[in-house]
Amino acid sequence: MAITIKSPEELALMRQAGQVVAATIATLVSSLRPGMRTAELDDIAEREIRSRGATPSFLGYKGYPASICVSVNEEIVHGIPGERVLREGDVVSLDVGAIYQGWQGDGAVTVGLGKISQEARQLIEVTRGSLEVGIQRARAGARLGDIGAAIQEHVESRGYSVVREYVGHGIGRQMHEEPQVPNYGVPGRGLRLVPGMCLAIEPMVNLGDWHTTVGADQWTVSTADGSLSAHFEHTIAIHQDHAEVLTKLVGTEDIWAHAWGLSSGVSRGSSA
Ligand code: MF3
Ligand code: CO
Repeated sequence: MAITIKSPEELALMRQAGQVVAATIATLVSSLRPGMRTAELDDIAEREIRSRGATPSFLGYKGYPASICVSVNEEIVHGIPGERVLREGDVVSLDVGAIYQGWQGDGAVTVGLGKISQEARQLIEVTRGSLEVGIQRARAGARLGDIGAAIQEHVESRGYSVVREYVGHGIGRQMHEEPQVPNYGVPGRGLRLVPGMCLAIEPMVNLGDWHTTVGADQWTVSTADGSLSAHFEHTIAIHQDHAEVLTKLVGTEDIWAHAWGLSSGVSRGSSA
């Protein structure tokens, strides 16, 4: 799938898809309770997405059996919702994708359930911050390597590692378009960004080393060393002098971010 450049009309639809994702994530975060099965989150998300006139993009994608991914503790991404019961202290990544009038949005957050360890809190905060610095570098004329390098530097200078085997991606009518968007790189290298490109940037950060392993279900990706992992993702649109965060919930995101002890900026960004 080639790199696609969106027209203003297409960007307007990407914005709406992004808002479906953002609203669904907000609903999930405020629904999270100890004792809940992860399958309940999947039901909540599917209802929320469909109630907004969109469809869950993950459901059936390459045979994926659910509407969202819920990845807990040492799970990095692609955890399948099911009978697992969430407990206080769990580090929970929620990844949501929606298609609105043919256009895709993709986003993820990681939150601690109730009281979590100090090391878990710091891991989450560093991962969220790494997405923010990556987005800050994204604009027309910048290179893909500028984004990856900023994320990598933010993470590694704080003693964490960035997952290598999974990367972000272009997004549009397809969830996964070119280019691949690694969370590591060399400044000044790689594709030059132009207005109208849309990217899903999604750093996955481990407390231990970056190696991964795939579970018996053939989907769940975990840290090879069993260490905790966190994941944040935003869909962004490239403009002349900034990146617009399409999956930033317009208006209310800080309310639920603060409710969960995260600093504001679970999603940063200016709306054009
Ligand atoms: N946000 C993930 C991604 O960008 C979600 C894919 S899960 C899948 O790859 F099940 F749909 F594959
Ligand atoms: Co993605």
